[in-house]
Amino acid sequence: MTIAPDQKPRPLRARPVADGTGLHGEVAVPGDKSISHRALIFGALSVGETTVTGLLEGEDVLRTAAAMRAMGAEVERLGDGHWRVWGVGVGGLSEPEDVLDMGNAGTGARLVMGLVASHDFTAIFTGDASLRRRPMGRVVDPLSRIGARFVGRQGGRLPLAVVGTAHPLPIEYTLPVASAQVKSAVLLAGLNAPGITTVIEPEPTRDHTENLLRHFGAKVTVETTKEGGRVIQLTGQPEFRPSSIVVPGDPSSAAFPMVAACIVPGSEVTVRNVGLNPLRTGLFTTLQEMGADLTFSNRRDEGGEPVADITIRHAPLKGITVPPERAPSMIDEYPILFVAAACAEGETVMRGAKELRVKESDRLALMARGLKACGVDLDEFEDGLVIRGKGKPPQGLPAGISIATELDHRIAMSFLVLGMAAKDGIAIDDARVMDTSFPGFVPLMQSLGATLESAG
Ligand code: S3P
Repeated sequence: MTIAPDQKPRPLRARPVADGTGLHGEVAVPGDKSISHRALIFGALSVGETTVTGLLEGEDVLRTAAAMRAMGAEVERLGDGHWRVWGVGVGGLSEPEDVLDMGNAGTGARLVMGLVASHDFTAIFTGDASLRRRPMGRVVDPLSRIGARFVGRQGGRLPLAVVGTAHPLPIEYTLPVASAQVKSAVLLAGLNAPGITTVIEPEPTRDHTENLLRHFGAKVTVETTKEGGRVIQLTGQPEFRPSSIVVPGDPSSAAFPMVAACIVPGSEVTVRNVGLNPLRTGLFTTLQEMGADLTFSNRRDEGGEPVADITIRHAPLKGITVPPERAPSMIDEYPILFVAAACAEGETVMRGAKELRVKESDRLALMARGLKACGVDLDEFEDGLVIRGKGKPPQGLPAGISIATELDHRIAMSFLVLGMAAKDGIAIDDARVMDTSFPGFVPLMQSLGATLESAG
């Protein structure tokens, strides 16, 4: 999120829900962020009209919409979450006249860099203070092999100029980190290369790009290796047929009201229309192993993705060891899992999640610091946290002290959820950043019975 200098931070405090009341109600969370970025990108690469319903209208996705417009696509909002894209065809993007400001969005930045890499023009990328800190070397390396050139700051950090190539090479690339963003950047670049682009992922990551490539008519094959990894092969230069896309509710956003209901006594909450792509559901499995009471109903398929309504009732949670290999399927959910672990009885071991250090913030450091300040007993490791919960929520933060969110939406929402259960409540320093992925978080949680009030 790019915050204009004249806007003031908006401190916000969550107070504990009154004893014996709990959170109650039925809500729908905004559209999936990963699928929303991709829906706009794929629409921009088709010739003709693509319609999208359920699009997340968060800051991150609006930046991708602006980038697609700047490169020649027509992108139009028709109503709430309802958008229309007139694309220019695979290979048909044009040079943007100005710098592409991707705001807070790592996904938007890395995917659009992939697109530019195999076009014969130059685009300059920047973003907010959080995005400018994040490593781009992970996409610069494979995209250089395709033939693009880059001029950036140390470590490939933004601002960064991408000089695309007129003669992209199809490459074979093994991901050095489990990252759907890197996989997607390579596949998007490969779309405009002749021949077959191959990405090998030792650990499977979210496959929305592969699903949408198929949906728009590209030839993609996916094979599972003996070790459990995947080999993805894309035949370049397909003709995309325009399509319609229904974006399911974001499981990463659903996680916040769900964990709130788990930890606030007396709660019963239903979140409707939650995307249940099996490569995204690690948190739900983990919560169930901890003793959470989740019921999945109305399971169905929407727009090629499995969805369901999920009902969560308060239940006592116990500490467990989360298998490190589960990390890619819940990578964005660790901050809110740490909150659940802080309220559970006993030790929860969450390792194998080193990637959390290079998200919108260093999520391990920020969560460890904030949880300790709230009275949680924990150890921080390079790749995770071990949290020793006491079977009840921690004390929280006294008035006048707030959590530093450092432009990280998930840190902000995680601590507000903990504040709904903690005796003293918890304040965060700035609520504006939540618009990145979850516009309407505050009224949605208030509709369930939470007290969120200005702490300014
Ligand atoms: C995303 C992939 C993940 C995730 C991010 C969205 C995507 O990042 O953290 O919020 O849409 O591809 P990495 O690919 O860097 O793990």
